[in-house]
Amino acid sequence: MRRKLPIGVLVSGSGSNLQSIIDSIEQGRLDAEIKVVISNIHDAFALKRAQNHSIPTLVISHENFETREAFDEAIVRALKSNRIELVVMAGFMRIITHVLLDAYPGKIMNIHPALLPSFPGMHAQRQAVDYGAKFSGCTVHFVDSGVDSGPIIIQAVVPVLDDDTEETLSARILKEEHRIYPQAIQYFASGRIRLNNRRVMIAEGQCEMSTALHNPGLSGF
Ligand code: GRF
Repeated sequence: MRRKLPIGVLVSGSGSNLQSIIDSIEQGRLDAEIKVVISNIHDAFALKRAQNHSIPTLVISHENFETREAFDEAIVRALKSNRIELVVMAGFMRIITHVLLDAYPGKIMNIHPALLPSFPGMHAQRQAVDYGAKFSGCTVHFVDSGVDSGPIIIQAVVPVLDDDTEETLSARILKEEHRIYPQAIQYFASGRIRLNNRRVMIAEGQCEMSTALHNPGLSGF
């Protein structure tokens, strides 16, 4: 039996990425075990999803703490007591501090619904539509002290279509989020990730595209 990486998932909302991680584990494609799901929002639907699969949950409300650091200390205590080796932020809507970063250096992942470094921050899908980008997508990255700025592990490219709204683009991107997040965690769990400055190298990881993608497509060029 393969070793299962003990992970803790931080959530704030609907938890569809959490669900994709749970499903990947149950299907035997991801060698991890979710030891705890921590939410800063007491009625986040993500908590229900975890409970449906008998995964322990914890609510740690940021409102009960005077500082971001004190909130992070409570999160770290919960993660350490569960012997977590990788922290997975999945729709966790808080900016973290050095307290959490220092407790898990190089061991915190996040997913962002854009092709970073384009469109960091809130409403990334709306930013892509409003800007007129022809491609957007999603990114799984390690977390550093900036906003959506850490080393990139994997990205999926998603086209922006002429009739896209924020909602239709978000839905198309979300489908890819659900594929790349479990994959990124499995890269970590299987020891395939190597960091070279801020470039993440995946052992035997191959790009699926050999030349380029065009949107709109080329006609004879
Ligand atoms: C996702 O789009 C994720 O990229 C962003 O927040 C959203 C969370 O969705 N960080 P869910 O809670 O996983 O359904």
